[in-house]
Amino acid sequence: MPAPEAKDQDAASPVEEPPATDESDSTTADDERSAFEKAAESEEDVDPRTIPQSLDGTPPLGDEIEYPDYDEERHEIWGTLVERQMEQLPGRACNAYEQGLDVLDITPERIPPLADLSARLEDATDWTVARIPGLLHEKDFFNLLANRRFPSTDYVRDWDELDYTPAPDCFHDIFGHMPMLTQPEFADFYQLFGQAALKAEGAERPALEAFHWFTVEFGLLEEPEGTRIFGAGIVSSNEEVTHALSDQVTKTPFDPDVLVDTDYEVYNLQDELFVMDSFEQLVDGFRDWTSERNLL
Ligand SMILES: [Fe+2]
Repeated sequence: MPAPEAKDQDAASPVEEPPATDESDSTTADDERSAFEKAAESEEDVDPRTIPQSLDGTPPLGDEIEYPDYDEERHEIWGTLVERQMEQLPGRACNAYEQGLDVLDITPERIPPLADLSARLEDATDWTVARIPGLLHEKDFFNLLANRRFPSTDYVRDWDELDYTPAPDCFHDIFGHMPMLTQPEFADFYQLFGQAALKAEGAERPALEAFHWFTVEFGLLEEPEGTRIFGAGIVSSNEEVTHALSDQVTKTPFDPDVLVDTDYEVYNLQDELFVMDSFEQLVDGFRDWTSERNLL
C-alpha cells in the first residue's frame, strides 16, 4: 500500500533475498520473512528499482569512486531536499547527527563526491564508502557493513519524488545515514550489526531487521534537552521529522527483547519508536542480545 507518507526505500537497508523457488521445501515461515517481503506480497506492480541485486565483485571504494557528470538539475534537487530538511532539524536532530553534518561538510550547494565523504569518514571512524548500483541483496549489504564499508548510491531522485521514492538514492544514503557514521559508538554498532547479520538464521533474520529498523532507520535518543531523532529514515523524510516527535507516536524505552517483537509498517508513518539513553546503551544492548544467540 504505497502512500504519500511512505518511507523512502534505500540502499542501506537489509533486504532479504526472495525465497528460493527451485526447492520443494523452500516455503519460508511467516515469522522468518522480512517486513519488506511481507509488504511486497500485497503489491501487484513491483517497481524494478526495488528489486535487490547482487554485486559483481568489489564495488568502487573511497578514492576509486568517480564523481558523476551531474547536470544542474540534479544539484538543484539535492539542494532543495537538503535545505528543507535542514530547516526542520535544529532542536529535533540529536547532537551527534548535527555534528556529523559538519564533519562531512554536507551542504545544499552541490551533491558531495562520495570519495570526499569517504575520506572524512575514514578520518572520523575508519569507515569507507562503497559506491553501489542500487538496492543490494542482503548478503552483499551485510558483507560491506561487516567490513566497515558503507554502501551508497550516487544518483538522486526526481522532482516528483521529493517526498517519497521507492528506490534508493544518494540523498537518503548521504544525508540520512552518513552523519551518524561519524559517531564512534554508532559506527562500531553498525559494523557489529553487519557481522551478526551474516550469521543470523531463521527467525533471527527478521529480528535483526527490526533492530535495524528501530535504530539505524528510526532510532530516537534521549538528550538533556529532550528526545531527539537520529534514524536515517526520519532525518531524510520531510514528514517523519515532525511526526516522529509528536504525540501520535508511542515512545518506548530501548529494550532489545521488546524491540525485536514489535511490528512496524515499512510503507506508512510509524506509530511506535524506541528511545535510547545513549549510543553506548545501543552497543551494549546489541552485544548482549547477539551474544546470547552466538551471533557475535
Ligand atoms: Fe536507510
